[in-house]
Amino acid sequence: MRILSGIQPSGLLHLGNYFGMMKPAIELQEEGEAFYFIADYHALTTIQDAARMRELSRLVAIDFLACGLDPGRAVFFRQSDVPEVTELAWVLSTLAPMGLLERCHSYKDKIARGLMPTAGLFSYPLLMAADILIYQSHVVPVGSDQKQHVEVTRDLAQRFNRLFGETFTVPEPRIREESSVVPGLDGQKMSKSYGNTIELFEPPAEQRRKVMRIVTDSTPVEAPKDPAKCTVFALYRLVASAAETAELERRYRQGGFGYGEAKKMLADKVEACFAPLRRRREELMRDRGRVDEVLREGAERARREAQRTMREVRRRVGIE
Ligand code: ADP
Ligand code: TRP
Repeated sequence: MRILSGIQPSGLLHLGNYFGMMKPAIELQEEGEAFYFIADYHALTTIQDAARMRELSRLVAIDFLACGLDPGRAVFFRQSDVPEVTELAWVLSTLAPMGLLERCHSYKDKIARGLMPTAGLFSYPLLMAADILIYQSHVVPVGSDQKQHVEVTRDLAQRFNRLFGETFTVPEPRIREESSVVPGLDGQKMSKSYGNTIELFEPPAEQRRKVMRIVTDSTPVEAPKDPAKCTVFALYRLVASAAETAELERRYRQGGFGYGEAKKMLADKVEACFAPLRRRREELMRDRGRVDEVLREGAERARREAQRTMREVRRRVGIE
């Protein structure tokens, strides 16, 4: 089984990225042949500053490794080191009805937030489809906001296969129920574009300060509380064990327990959960050569695979 996912180096990683995509991807690397990459061509739709692009790409690579991506098991590379994906994206664009792209929520959300509607932003799902199809991926672990893009990918794979003969594996999205939408400080989806994130590797004191700012309702301390409606609880269950989560749920329902106390428990858990990852990250920060080497080896391996698919695609469409 081929598992594939990518993450844009468009900002610092946060708990939503970690629980929505990175942790599931890291767990899946045990179950098949995983290909994970830094989607720098995609990030070019929002980052137009070369120094920042370099810095963020390096940090996202370090952070993914620190979180447990194992280069002994998974192929880890930069999207732009495999230029064949942009070639495939072009071929796919010639099969993609405008309406299919016009319906994509992610594009509509981005322009609603004031991003310039560039052709790159519009055709973003085509490059993503190329990423997935060029490695003949079966499973794509992502947060629920990317589900529609995987559906576009399936549609394009099926169209191509119908027109030119069986060429592409039709992929499935893999979305974790419990972390499909991780809420941010204000209760909306945690996202760098909403300014409501807790970053994975910001200093623990800063994380704690943010946890204390999480918006809760005005139920008085003594009253019973509904865990299903509380962001603090939603985050706690991601970082605590099942038994600890059940205990917190009991305290919410019983009443006589305030949100302030729940926040302290959450901050302690977040700190404990990420402490070992922080140590690994510090080591990687000191060993830049190692990270470059992992990405170089990953790129070679990924590129061989991509070139194989592209030879087949060219033959199928009659340009070779
Ligand atoms: P952001 O919304 O902060 O810009 P990205 O779009 O770069 O995040 O997302 C990278 C990956 O992390 C995607 O697979 C996405 O589905 C996942 N992800 C991001 N935010 C969340 C969230 N709040 N809950 C679950 N998954 C998320
Ligand atoms: N669009 C994804 C995101 O914003 C990143 C991405 C690019 C991706 N190519 C991909 C994810 C291929 C999965 C598979 O998060």
